[in-house]
Amino acid sequence: MALFKKQSFLLFLVITLSLFFTPNSEPGRHNQHHPHYSHAPPPDRSIIIKPKFSSELLLSTISLPTTPRYSAATPGVGEWSLLQESVGVSAMHMQLLHNNKIVIFDRADFGSSNLSLPAGKCRFDPRAAKHDCTAHSLLYDVDSNTYRPLMVQTDVWCSSGAVNSLGTLVQTGGYHDGYKKIRTFTPCNDDTCDWVELPLNLTVQRWYGSDHILPDDRVIVVGGRRAYSYEFFPNNDNRVFPFPLLKETTDPKEENNLYPFLHLLPDGNLFVFANRRSLLLDYKNDRIVREYPEIPGEKRNYPATGSSVMLPLKLGNSSYPTVEILICGGARGGAYLKALRGRFMAASKSCGRIRVTDPEPVWVMEDMPLRRVMPDMLLLPTGDVIIVNGAARGSAGWECGDEPVLSPVMYYPDEPDPAKRFSALSPSTKPRMYHSAAILLPDGRILVGGSNPHVKYNFTAEKYPTDLSLEAYSPPYLGTEYAHLRPSILSIDGTEDNAVAYGQQFTISFSLGGFQLVPGEYLVTMVAPSFTTHSFAMNQRLLVLYVSAEQQIAPFAYKVTVNAPPTANIAPPGYYMLFVVHQGVPCHSVWIKLHI
Ligand SMILES: *[C@@H]1O[C@H](CO)[C@@H](O)[C@H](O)[C@H]1NC(C)=O
Ligand SMILES: *[C@@H]1O[C@H](CO)[C@@H](O)[C@H](O)[C@H]1NC(C)=O
Ligand SMILES: *[C@@H]1O[C@H](CO)[C@@H](O)[C@H](O)[C@H]1NC(C)=O
Ligand SMILES: *[C@@H]1O[C@H](CO)[C@@H](O)[C@H](O)[C@H]1NC(C)=O
Repeated sequence: MALFKKQSFLLFLVITLSLFFTPNSEPGRHNQHHPHYSHAPPPDRSIIIKPKFSSELLLSTISLPTTPRYSAATPGVGEWSLLQESVGVSAMHMQLLHNNKIVIFDRADFGSSNLSLPAGKCRFDPRAAKHDCTAHSLLYDVDSNTYRPLMVQTDVWCSSGAVNSLGTLVQTGGYHDGYKKIRTFTPCNDDTCDWVELPLNLTVQRWYGSDHILPDDRVIVVGGRRAYSYEFFPNNDNRVFPFPLLKETTDPKEENNLYPFLHLLPDGNLFVFANRRSLLLDYKNDRIVREYPEIPGEKRNYPATGSSVMLPLKLGNSSYPTVEILICGGARGGAYLKALRGRFMAASKSCGRIRVTDPEPVWVMEDMPLRRVMPDMLLLPTGDVIIVNGAARGSAGWECGDEPVLSPVMYYPDEPDPAKRFSALSPSTKPRMYHSAAILLPDGRILVGGSNPHVKYNFTAEKYPTDLSLEAYSPPYLGTEYAHLRPSILSIDGTEDNAVAYGQQFTISFSLGGFQLVPGEYLVTMVAPSFTTHSFAMNQRLLVLYVSAEQQIAPFAYKVTVNAPPTANIAPPGYYMLFVVHQGVPCHSVWIKLHI
């Protein structure tokens, strides 16, 4: 790539032509050559060549550029758009399913929402309305921007979830009559599907617990208020495993360890983080493999809510890629108790990053440009991390946050210069305080909704009235000025119905909007859709696939051969969004199914 920097017109021409007429590149090239991310300065090319797909490439086909390139200097700040002023339910929990529909739900125990159930449908609510004929859940259709009410029978407040290998949402716990409930939602392509409450129960009540899908398709359910244990679903022998970490990290009166952060590592063990401590759990043998150092600074879990992501797993030919965890935001101990008395302490500004696969890992600390409690952290298809929602003061909890932070912040994990690793983006106009959420959409936008820091819906509250809207944030890479760089997937071959087996090679054909593919400057990524609530995107993971060959098949159209992830520890079976990202600009994803 350095060659391009010399601005040598002829050299560029020669390289372009040789790419053009060499059908297959050497296998493994992209492994040695680490993929470039969006923020990396692009090669300095001063011309765009539009060759005819023939051996006669004439100078007359060369034209000067008219469109800017996606570059660090002018990446843009993105755009907000309002999708729905009100969907009638505040979006506390969100899960994208593989038919581009999103299950959204709030709590169900406070009385009426602003969305009616279909005529004749009501439920008996022992504590609130008695006869509640409103919905507390809905199904939002991304493609048509429409929604319909769903019916939950019991209280799903502050619960958790994971999608299994069949694409069914398994949701666990909640409050009161929902404490031990397990519910499922299986997507359908008509309007018939709805929540199903299973006759089985969790072994203990779990409110504010976290879930993770496992390689064997079970769901592990960890913690919850005064639930210092973990268990599995399905749970054939009704076992529950005591988990001392959770008891040990509970602060008196404040807790600060709820909704523990969970990440499944490629060695099959589960990284668990609570408050400021973390460890590696071998859940198969109920054994602690190792403990990590305490993260410096603030506390990181509810109500001192920060967020956590496992940075992209870059898959070469090894089954054990390096793994880094990034945790950002949170609040100091005592912040919640003070907020209850109307004093809002400054939120955390720091992020800690740790390479958990190192023999002696350490937290490397960095400062965000903005303080944040209740940040939602999402992996973008590019491998970058976006931090949205939340507040600069206080903590999570009713009426406990203040000073909304309206600007998302981007974190570029591969940016070598720490001073350039963060950038602040275009602010929204809507505070997204406690009980708000965000998820990645299949086209690379971020869906943002919720915010209700009050006991009930309150549309006239002086501060932060209940928000029932849905917004989309389009990161800079969706700017029209980058349309010429955007890939679009034409076909996926070597698979049956886009289902791939572990380690299987398959090919992806894609076109670019009138621009040459720059070798080494594209990525093929797979993203697992998260269950997001309370600022933690459970089950979120991003895999950068190993590219073994590339071929040009038409002007501006290419075919790349990739390997599916090698093991279920690296990527549990199920549905993933497959993205091709060229020069930092992702395509609209295609769902692929990874199966045993
Ligand atoms: C919700 O319904 C209430 C009562 O009908 C109404 O006052 C309020 O404006 C509605 N809010 C939204 C955002 O639709
Ligand atoms: C589940 O719990 C409910 C009460 O919360 C109880 O009525 C029901 O019998 C339990 N079901 C099973 C299978 O234990
Ligand atoms: C994996 O890649 C490394 C370097 O890229 C190479 O030396 C090694 O032979 C490869 N191993 C396999 C099993 O392909
Ligand atoms: C809404 O909040 C205000 C305070 O901002 C309070 O006075 C009012 O009673 C609340 N309304 C409801 C319906 O809870």
